[in-house]
Amino acid sequence: MTSSKIERITVKASGVYDVLVGRGLLSECGSYVKEVSQAEKIGLITDDNVNALYGDAVQKSLESAGFSVCRFVFPHGEQSKNTDTLVKIWNFLCENSFSRSDCLAALGGGVTGDMTGFAAATYLRGMDFVQIPTTLLAQVDSSVGGKTAVDLAGGKNLVGAFKQPKLVLCDIDALDTLPDEFFTDGMGEVVKHGMIKSAKLFELLEKYDLKTLRENKDVLEDVIARNVAIKRDVVQADEFDTGERMKLNFGHTLGHSIEQYYNYTGITHGQAVAAGMKMITGIAERHMLAEKGTCERLAKCLDGYGLNVSVEPTPEQLGSACLNDKKRFGDTINVIVCCDVGASMIKKMPVESFFAMLSEASE
Ligand code: GLY
Repeated sequence: MTSSKIERITVKASGVYDVLVGRGLLSECGSYVKEVSQAEKIGLITDDNVNALYGDAVQKSLESAGFSVCRFVFPHGEQSKNTDTLVKIWNFLCENSFSRSDCLAALGGGVTGDMTGFAAATYLRGMDFVQIPTTLLAQVDSSVGGKTAVDLAGGKNLVGAFKQPKLVLCDIDALDTLPDEFFTDGMGEVVKHGMIKSAKLFELLEKYDLKTLRENKDVLEDVIARNVAIKRDVVQADEFDTGERMKLNFGHTLGHSIEQYYNYTGITHGQAVAAGMKMITGIAERHMLAEKGTCERLAKCLDGYGLNVSVEPTPEQLGSACLNDKKRFGDTINVIVCCDVGASMIKKMPVESFFAMLSEASE
């Protein structure tokens, strides 16, 4: 995997599509989209930040490939990922006479991808869309696998659909403009993928840190392609999240509770997941469910990428918020545990036993 070639990773789910990882893909996107779409019109959906950086280049490439392009720009940030913006996108598609054979393109991070995907899943009961992710988090995680959603006042991603894209274009060059803070945020999921599925990826991450990984584009490209391949394998095994895919939630049960404790301000998703992964791995080691030293290795790797947060709430304090977790089924909860670097399992346990473990860890 080198920067001179484009890595093509094929996902075989309810839809079959390629994820391309490489450099210079944004300015060539039109010809790649042409390979997968007969659309006359593309609805280019993006936020104001990404639009200022890449909107014109992407529109130009799509137009050069023969598409007519209508652009919809919304204010950046999670606060836009709601039904108000979704209704605006639906109305924009209606006003511009989009048909079922036309296509949407999500240009941006996870918010843009999730919302565009959900609009594509629902407008005219479904139309095609492609993902052009410009953040690390979106490239390694949210653009692949077909989860789409918007938030409600009561919680994140509460209304959504599974809708696989027709194509995903991960342009490594787009990460050049990503501030360190957002790069670090995405590294939480990158380290998670290594922990749950690939000791090799984890060992590679251990050799670098935030600065050196960002500087070394060949390695970064390799890291992203490995992450996409892991995500592909998991999605192919369990597209609709009833088994294997739950492993992607390693660190997220406690992580979500941490985000909730801080009211989603002052802590990023990546930092909360990093803290959640460390907490659950420490607990797993204590209960002989994980090899000794796993937690120390995880913490050291996270430190290198700026994810060395210590959080205020004790595991016990986080317990009750975990009851809203999607992995709870009645009186039992599926806890994702890494028994070693690169090896994970889904441990089904009574909620009471999970609480007991958390409170013991708080002593
Ligand atoms: N990001 C978790 C999943 O795709 O299942």
